Amino acid sequence: MNILISAGPTREAIDPVRFLTNRSSGKMGYAIAEAAVNAGHHVTLVSGPVTLESPPGLSEFVPVESAAQMAEAVKSRFNGMGLTIMCAAVADYRPAVCHSSKLKKSEGNLILELERTEDILKTLGSRKQPNQILVGFAAETDQMRSHAMEKLKQKNLDWIVANQVGVADRGFASDNNAATLFGRDGTVLELPLMSKSELAHHILSAVVPVR
Ligand code: CTP
Repeated sequence: MNILISAGPTREAIDPVRFLTNRSSGKMGYAIAEAAVNAGHHVTLVSGPVTLESPPGLSEFVPVESAAQMAEAVKSRFNGMGLTIMCAAVADYRPAVCHSSKLKKSEGNLILELERTEDILKTLGSRKQPNQILVGFAAETDQMRSHAMEKLKQKNLDWIVANQVGVADRGFASDNNAATLFGRDGTVLELPLMSKSELAHHILSAVVPVR
């Protein structure tokens, strides 16, 4: 199967030396990519800036920085994919202006105006064909189930992998994670705390259709 996976954070430039980003390490997306390669799939990994080695055996590795670059990379490859998993922590906002020279400090506060980035997953959901499976992630600090179900519906997904962030032993940067998978058909699969590579195998076996 042709599988597209996005991973890692994005960086939204303020000026040539500064950017806005988030705590994503890319570990979960890279673990899913590795598990998918090992299961014999053709895997394309689109990755924001991370410090990980890209898994051997990928069909394509596409490094990107910003949400706009990630959107371009993912959307242009989506059509040929049987399964797409958006694991990346895409920035929802970017600075409305990217200064071409370094911003100098002045007295008083600095107010940064932010504008929305494209919701890549929502765009993919609106373009999805019946033979394509689309999986999103939901990083939540509270009301995990209701927020995840809302995203599943609004973004027209087949599955959403909900995980708790802001907890020390799991999620961002950790080697471990727990997740709850919600399927479009009402399936709920609880995956307790385990290594991200074990979790990756469970997620893949749940979302790859049995032929
Ligand atoms: N996502 C995306 N494009 C964005 C933001 C998010 O494709 N601009 C994708 C992520 O890759 C993830 C899913 O949407 O698969 C949910 O991301 P999350 O940050 O949990 O939710 P948001 O939709 O951004 O909503 P909120 O930040 O309000 O929780």
